[in-house]
Amino acid sequence: MAKVTEIGPELYRISVYVPDFDLQFNHFLVNDEEPLLFHTGYKAWFSEVHEATATVVDPSRIRWIGFSHFESDECGSLNQWLEVAPSAEAVCSVVGALVSVNDFAIRPAKGMAEGEVLRTGTCRFRLCRTPHLPHGWDASALFEETSNTLLCSDLFHQVGDVEPLTQSDVVGRTREALKEYQAGILADYSPYTHYTGQLFEKLAALKPERLAIMHGSSFEGNGERALDDLAVVFRETFGGG
Ligand SMILES: [Fe+2]
Ligand SMILES: [Fe+2]
Repeated sequence: MAKVTEIGPELYRISVYVPDFDLQFNHFLVNDEEPLLFHTGYKAWFSEVHEATATVVDPSRIRWIGFSHFESDECGSLNQWLEVAPSAEAVCSVVGALVSVNDFAIRPAKGMAEGEVLRTGTCRFRLCRTPHLPHGWDASALFEETSNTLLCSDLFHQVGDVEPLTQSDVVGRTREALKEYQAGILADYSPYTHYTGQLFEKLAALKPERLAIMHGSSFEGNGERALDDLAVVFRETFGGG
């Protein structure tokens, strides 16, 4: 079964490690009055993530299913979740809802605009649009304002079956992973646009204290500095220096 770790107050990391890719796929469950799952994962491992979720909360009570951008590791099993959780709604950017999710999913998504806040009980999730960061024009991040947790999807991508949470450097690991990818078919992981630097500045200004990371260890510490440092890695790796 997927590995479940509480990495913050009522914030659970459900981790599936795939040896063939030497990569973790992490799903985040926020156990609030209206439970929220961030990333569903691929269709193929719905049962595994569902079983892991059930160790924390009755999966049929999941109310919100969030993700950054329309890709299978982000939302592949969305419809399976919408079937087992009758009151669940997908939540993503307006562009994500309009362009993909409302057609793909068996129920319409809640498309959120820049700065819009979703309250789930105690928690408040603010949507931050991040077009093309890490990729996809629908991309966004969710910032949970009461715990200063940034659900940041593919940012800070690390390889290996690493620890659930670290307070040490994750940017160095990302630099190494992206450098490795540059030599192969994953070289074009992220485009570098006129706005990439500004988007990193916007996320850093949130001053997150915890980064919930899809691939690799989550991070606790100075999120502003980590995002500033990651901006440099992205400029060097994808922006030609
Ligand atoms: Fe992605
Ligand atoms: Fe991903």
